[in-house]
Amino acid sequence: MSDAPLVRWLRREFTAINSALEAAPVADPDLAERRALIDRLLAGASQLPPLPDRDVAEDDVLRVHLGVALLHAACARHGVAPDDPRQRPVVSWLLEAQRRWQLAPRLIAAPYLVLNDAEDGWPLTFLGSEDERRFIDANTAGLVVYEQAWTLVQRMRALSLTHPATSGMIEELARVLARLCGIHGRLQASLDHDAYYLHLRHYYEGVIVNGRAWSGVNAGDQGWSMALDLALGLAQGHPGYLAYLHGRLPYLPPSHRVLVERELHGRGWMPALERAVAAVPWGRTLARAAVGAFDAHVAATWAHLDLAVSFVDTGLGTSGTELRFLEETVRMRRDHPAIARLRVVAHG
Ligand code: HEM
Repeated sequence: MSDAPLVRWLRREFTAINSALEAAPVADPDLAERRALIDRLLAGASQLPPLPDRDVAEDDVLRVHLGVALLHAACARHGVAPDDPRQRPVVSWLLEAQRRWQLAPRLIAAPYLVLNDAEDGWPLTFLGSEDERRFIDANTAGLVVYEQAWTLVQRMRALSLTHPATSGMIEELARVLARLCGIHGRLQASLDHDAYYLHLRHYYEGVIVNGRAWSGVNAGDQGWSMALDLALGLAQGHPGYLAYLHGRLPYLPPSHRVLVERELHGRGWMPALERAVAAVPWGRTLARAAVGAFDAHVAATWAHLDLAVSFVDTGLGTSGTELRFLEETVRMRRDHPAIARLRVVAHG
């Protein structure tokens, strides 16, 4: 299974073509210069890798999928009709990948962010711009934080919440989640508004594949943050968030989907946490640590909302979700009644 020719083409040609198309006027679709660039973009379809065998590891399949999906997203961005016969090999490849591995037939966030190997400082990008590099950098760092937070929660669950090491691990969870505020804040300070709003975000928008609309890409499309909210017990009582979560499942890598579906069956931490606080002699320390972790999670959600609002000012995100939904996630993470009770124990 070699995707080397496609990756080489993506690194050498693709970013240059997209950057030129971003600069070429869209008003006249017959403009010769634009037509020539679209021809060059579609020539990428001749570099498609063979579909990986069924027994290839998921991450390897996702890495190959990434290259094809980048080309597909660029075609959508530049107005290539979904049924343009020159794009057919790309669409057929993605549909077959969907059939074999249940991967949404469009760009998937997780491989773009955490499986996108860099060469000389550049992961595979659409535009090869500093803004895209900053965007990928921040989103990748953010996903790694969620993965670490999720790993810590699993480790604590395996030990049980009454284990003497748990308070320290929850304090560590708070420190891990607090890193998100810095990540969001730095991106907000450094990302050029127009470069993102006018150019970059369009590559993450929804696409039509075989007549069906697939919604756009966002960094929420991975299992770690969703599983975290479920494992902490924050999401179970929120029909709006659960509906969002179910709606995003088709866009997750299959192993992430399994992770989230498993968590959907659980009740989450809250009852066990309150019992542990009442049971152990260091209950107040445990409550204080838990409140610190929940507060860090809320602060990170605020920081993300501030970031999103300043870059998606139509009220809708790339996946069509109303920004009001992000406010709802702040309330969901902040207002759980058990957190108020733990706060009383912690500071009472
Ligand atoms: C310019 C930068 C960003 C913008 C404009 C943005 C915008 C959005 C929007 C609008 C949503 C709602 C779903 C949608 O409509 O797509 C969303 C969801 C999400 N984003 Fe971002 N985002 C940005 C950067 C980041 C970064 C750096 C992270 C780091 C982890 C991140 C993590 C998430 C997560 C986890 C969700 C799912 C909702 C949640 O769990 O709160 N985003 N984002």
